[in-house]
Amino acid sequence: MLRLHKITITHFKNYDISYFNFSKNIIGISGLNGIGKTNLLDAIYYCCFTKSYFTNTDSLNTNFEKDGFRLEGNFDNSGDLQKITCINRNTSKKEFLLNDVPYEKLSKHIGLLPAVIIAPDDVEIIIGGSEGRRRYLDTVICQLDGEYLQQLIIYNKVLLQRNSLLKRFAEQGKIDLGLLEIINNQLINPGKIVFEKRERFSQKLIPLIELFYKRIADNYETVSFIYRSKLQENDFESILKKMFEKDRIVQRTSEGIHKDDITLTLNEQPFKSIASQGQRKSLLFALKLAQYQLLKDYKSFSPILLLDDVFEKLDEKRMERLLQWVCHENDGQVFITDTHPQRLQSIFEKLQIDGQLIEL
Ligand SMILES: Nc1ncnc2c1ncn2[C@@H]1O[C@H](COP(=O)(O)OP(=O)(O)O)[C@@H](O)[C@H]1O
Ligand SMILES: [Mg+2]
Repeated sequence: MLRLHKITITHFKNYDISYFNFSKNIIGISGLNGIGKTNLLDAIYYCCFTKSYFTNTDSLNTNFEKDGFRLEGNFDNSGDLQKITCINRNTSKKEFLLNDVPYEKLSKHIGLLPAVIIAPDDVEIIIGGSEGRRRYLDTVICQLDGEYLQQLIIYNKVLLQRNSLLKRFAEQGKIDLGLLEIINNQLINPGKIVFEKRERFSQKLIPLIELFYKRIADNYETVSFIYRSKLQENDFESILKKMFEKDRIVQRTSEGIHKDDITLTLNEQPFKSIASQGQRKSLLFALKLAQYQLLKDYKSFSPILLLDDVFEKLDEKRMERLLQWVCHENDGQVFITDTHPQRLQSIFEKLQIDGQLIEL
């Protein structure tokens, strides 16, 4: 079992110095708009992912009037007490420590404290561009497979190098084929590994998404989730060769795993063009709960679930069904925010949840 017992937040976003003790499995957090509910969930997310869910720029996570922030999370991971400390000074590299020992690579921390967040703008994953869906898939896999994130980081680094090389070729009006081949070779291996892992893990994710969609939407529509990559049609090496003329002209790498997408369909039609608001929300929850279930299956304990303003998203019946599942059929810790404390109180009573209510 994974539990967060306490979090201490210093100069993170709108917080000055605050701490919160969490004594139950289900924690309701209420307060007016703008008070810091989302920021509190993000502070928890930060302890699990070494970064904010909303931005990669730590100066934006620092209280505007300060020049750094500190987070401390006291977790109990199946009996192991794990203290997470993050110290960010905007002028230097942030420190991230597990039981006072700094990580050399932040990526090593990912997956130790699995968590899933459902945030207000997440419906973008479904209706927006492919980037959000890749990010979703990456977030799922990197918590399950440590090598995935390492290879993805290498890939992205080499991709930047290749793109600047293509720019240089254009500026200088000549091509160094030897150098290009070296860079290509550095890109191919991590690209292939990321591709294979995306294929493998999406195979596990798909049936879970379909299952949860049925459960939440309560009907017989068929949704499908198909992972698509150019690497399914051709090997990466040939793709790079074939695309070189184009790459040279556009001065960037046109094909590769950075262009992968996930096609979502509803009754065999593109999901985003035909789905109603309600269906979009149901699918979003299905994606996130599938992530939750897959993490749970792999880790043999439930991840932390962060539900931000979900009452605004789902109707009461669906919400109750969802909470029934997360709170009674799982033993994970759940944090739920809402503007109305009474709404949290009454749903806790109705579903017989022995929860903790925190008013900000
Ligand atoms: N870096 C920051 N420094 C100070 N205040 C911030 C920072 N980032 C966000 N905020 C403030 O935090 C508040 C929003 O908090 P949020 O957690 O989103 O509220 P809630 O979810 O309760 O509606 C806003 O008033 C916003 O201006
Ligand atoms: Mg909020």
